[in-house]
Amino acid sequence: MAQYGHFDDANREFVITRPDTPLPWLNMLGQDEFYGLCTQTAGGYSFWKDARLRRLTRYRYNNNPMDNDGRFLYVKHGKSVWNPGWKPVRAELDGYECRHGLGYTQITGQKDGISVEQLMFIPANENLEVWKITVSNHTKKSQKFSIFPFVEFCSFEALNDMTNYQRTYSIGEVEVEGDAIYHKTEYRERRNHYTLFATTKKIAGYDTSRDAFVGVHNGLHDPKVLATGKCTNSKAFGWSPVGAFQLDFNLKPGATETFALILAYVDQGDLPKFDAPFVMNKTKGKQILAKYSDIAAVDAAFDAVKARWDSLLSVYQAPKVPNEHLRRMVNTWNQVQCMATFNLSRSASGYETGIGRGMGYRDSNQDILGFVHLLPERARQRILDIASTQLSDGTCFHQYQPLTKKGNADIGGGFNDDPLWLILSTAAYIRETKDLTILDEPCGYADKKGSRDTLLHHLETSIAYTLNNRGPHALPLIGHADWNDCLNLNCFSKEPNESFQVTGDIAGSKAESVMIAGLFLYAARDFSALYRFMGKEDDAKRIDSYYADMLKTVEEQAWDGSWYTRAFDAESRPIGSKSNKEGKIYIESQAWCVLGGAGQTNGRAKKALAAVDKYLYDKRYGCALQYPAYSEYHLELGEVTSYPPGYKENAGVFSHNNTWIHIGWAMFGEGEKALEYYLSICPSAKADHDVYRSEPYVYAQMTASHLSPTPGEAKNTWLTGTGAWSFVVAAQYILGVRPDFNGLVVDPCVPKKWKGFTVNRKYRGVQYAIEVKNPKGVSKGVKTLVVDGVKVKGNLIPIPTDGRTKVKVEVTLGA
Ligand code: BGC
Ligand code: NOJ
Repeated sequence: MAQYGHFDDANREFVITRPDTPLPWLNMLGQDEFYGLCTQTAGGYSFWKDARLRRLTRYRYNNNPMDNDGRFLYVKHGKSVWNPGWKPVRAELDGYECRHGLGYTQITGQKDGISVEQLMFIPANENLEVWKITVSNHTKKSQKFSIFPFVEFCSFEALNDMTNYQRTYSIGEVEVEGDAIYHKTEYRERRNHYTLFATTKKIAGYDTSRDAFVGVHNGLHDPKVLATGKCTNSKAFGWSPVGAFQLDFNLKPGATETFALILAYVDQGDLPKFDAPFVMNKTKGKQILAKYSDIAAVDAAFDAVKARWDSLLSVYQAPKVPNEHLRRMVNTWNQVQCMATFNLSRSASGYETGIGRGMGYRDSNQDILGFVHLLPERARQRILDIASTQLSDGTCFHQYQPLTKKGNADIGGGFNDDPLWLILSTAAYIRETKDLTILDEPCGYADKKGSRDTLLHHLETSIAYTLNNRGPHALPLIGHADWNDCLNLNCFSKEPNESFQVTGDIAGSKAESVMIAGLFLYAARDFSALYRFMGKEDDAKRIDSYYADMLKTVEEQAWDGSWYTRAFDAESRPIGSKSNKEGKIYIESQAWCVLGGAGQTNGRAKKALAAVDKYLYDKRYGCALQYPAYSEYHLELGEVTSYPPGYKENAGVFSHNNTWIHIGWAMFGEGEKALEYYLSICPSAKADHDVYRSEPYVYAQMTASHLSPTPGEAKNTWLTGTGAWSFVVAAQYILGVRPDFNGLVVDPCVPKKWKGFTVNRKYRGVQYAIEVKNPKGVSKGVKTLVVDGVKVKGNLIPIPTDGRTKVKVEVTLGA
């Protein structure tokens, strides 16, 4: 087993000890409007708000070597040229360490007695990133050397930038003044913003032309300028503008020098654009430089980033959880991933190019479930933004661009699960905050200009959409697809040049989804509970009756004998049934029927979970999405059968849907199973990194299952709904501290051998210190609940009515 690094839990860092990790191991910087992707070799790129429309630096996906663009420092020391992060030069280093922390990455490289530390972070509420550089001479002699910081600029619109060279090779423009490079491509015309790359150390030279600095026939691993050690002061006209500086050092034995580099997105605002023809007004850029020219200001900004994370994470901390993997995920990394998915949805990561997808309707709603406790007011705004992209008939834009908040029509629609997720996110927000005013917000519908229909109206519209769009079995029509984007029952594509995601006609189709039926049950229960909380009993009863009706349909139409059928195709034939040759059992319908409350009284829910355990689960990797994997392409099923067996939606371990099963086990009090299943997909618990390959600190969307030729290999990390749902699993179902409309419920489901744990939870302005003890060695069941010394019935912690802001809760599990 190879070792590439380890967790430093005390510092909330993952420490990478060699740069040649099996895949790039990425960190995410920023949580406001400016973001950076940063790998263990300083690879990645930066953007403001929208990775497609406001990209600052260039990044070549699907490159070889992988991850070869970034925030590079070249060190030229005598004859040797190296990078502290190893890449792109890949010179052998005497020392290397990368610390991925919360909102920062710190890379230190050492060679021939010189060490260079590069600490990269994005100050809170700033549209810029700072690299604090610390250079030390560990030798007994004075050392002369130079450092060349380097970035390659992107001309903001990333798709155009990487496809339309007849134009982009002619538009590049820069200005250089003092120790700063101003990248101002398209600034003369419609842009009112530019990129600033600057250093607080006096420069000895610069380059802004890639041809001059790197060379047309060289690579980033051997830039031309590094051969001579002298920048050429080149000015980019067209072609590819870059930012490179020459910084000269003469360090005494034992001496250290610290300086900073700034990469900023600068919006000119109301300032005049130019001081003179072709000379831009640089006031704002200079203000930024002045602000960070003092390294004490850099340090203060870094401390503030750390302090902000400490404060965010203090909302939910469970410091004494017996299992170290669950402990570090729930306390730290899982919450960090929730921040990333909330901010970026599925737009920009090591696998999402930032140009393919915006904010997903179903994705963003689910992301809120794991995020809402961190910053409820941001979740509130997001819910309203999402709702505004719903149409008045209940259908939704499947995605929208974060910059414009407008739906993207070209990525398709008709995903019939979409509307229902809005109910889950809204209910989660109100359970966290009790803020019912959100329901009165006039979000309006995307197809009704100027409409001011409330969020509550949207929730009703969502319910009505599902009820009114049902098929021959009275189950919900699937439309283009449900949660499983690849179950395309109305696509029938024979053309390799068609996208599964947008092809096909859903008008008049009969294909139905049991998953949506289960989701409807869940959403309807949420909605009626919400109405009850609002004191609207009649509405609650009305929704209850829809629930009962759908439940009856599910039980009558969707039970296949030992598990729930997945769907009915366009010809009304069952999918995910014992009558199928392949794909006999699917995970999603077991999960959602169980979560929605089906099979509770007739024993089917338990049978469905048992079937998952028998046919889909493998302790080493998690549950495959279905069984058996499809070996052939099926016209009537679409993309799900396009993947090779054991990958992605064709029987891969799709981590996201595994989490719903974890909740299922917890609901049934199966503590051992809940934890074992939880650990089966938990990145921290993956011991063999050469097999798993992906980052050990964040969830992967997909792991090749035991039904594939490469079992255990994970990919597509960071931006997956697994982030939010795993947090829900760990925090609310295993540790069992769950917000409800009337307060926190304590309902743990743990392995019998756990003796206890604690949870510190900030909730509605009160700090709860919860101690759970398990003297009888049970998995579930609260025997006693003592709140500030007073015994309380049940498992709901009453909200203090006397203004107390600190509450001590003692919970004893037992039969
Ligand atoms: C992937 C899905 C994804 C969909 C939409 C498909 O190729 O397999 O996981 O949801 O694309 O982007
Ligand atoms: C990834 C997509 O982002 C998500 O919306 C979808 O539910 C899953 N893939 C499953 O297909």
